[in-house]
Amino acid sequence: MDLDLYTLVSEPPTLDDYLRLREVSGLTPKRADQAGPALANSWAWRSVRTRDGETVAMGRLVGDGGWYFLVADMATLPDHQQRGLGRAVLTDLLDEIRDRAPEGAFVTLMADLPGQRLYEQLGFERPTNGSITMSQRLR
Ligand SMILES: CC(C)(COP(=O)(O)OP(=O)(O)OC[C@H]1O[C@@H](n2cnc3c(N)ncnc32)[C@H](O)[C@@H]1OP(=O)(O)O)[C@@H](O)C(=O)NCCC(=O)NCCS
Repeated sequence: MDLDLYTLVSEPPTLDDYLRLREVSGLTPKRADQAGPALANSWAWRSVRTRDGETVAMGRLVGDGGWYFLVADMATLPDHQQRGLGRAVLTDLLDEIRDRAPEGAFVTLMADLPGQRLYEQLGFERPTNGSITMSQRLR
């Protein structure tokens, strides 16, 4: 990440920026009533801003602070991808777990195709014990 162009901060995006980043980067759109708690209640946030203050990348951790953490909302606006922003966000989030949580934390994520190489480069592994990811959207 070019530090002359971008600043990494340990803060969530604004609600409007969060909704915009998810939508423009191709993640499923969320509503404001879903976004508010996500912004307020996560264990850690990172945002990347341009020199003129536009938020162009984000990522967060949901976690218990003890041993279990979920990486969510990894998103970089298309015009700013392939510049190391996602790597900077995730590297810093993992460093915060190393700093603030007891040793041996388990960190998991749902790896959509665009992020898989990056996640593997940062140490994430596919399950080798037959585990699969299961999820449902409650109605
Ligand atoms: C996944 C995502 C967040 C990655 O963000 P990003 O900011 O582009 O990530 P990075 O630039 O750090 O790394 C991505 C690639 O750029 C490369 N890269 C890193 N720094 C670079 C630099 N300075 N110059 C050129 N390329 C660079 C990385 O090596 C990586 O390449 P690879 O895929 O060949 O390994 C982004 O693609 C995205 O928002 N996708 C859409 C939403 C999505 O699917 N999110 C993931 C949900 S799990």
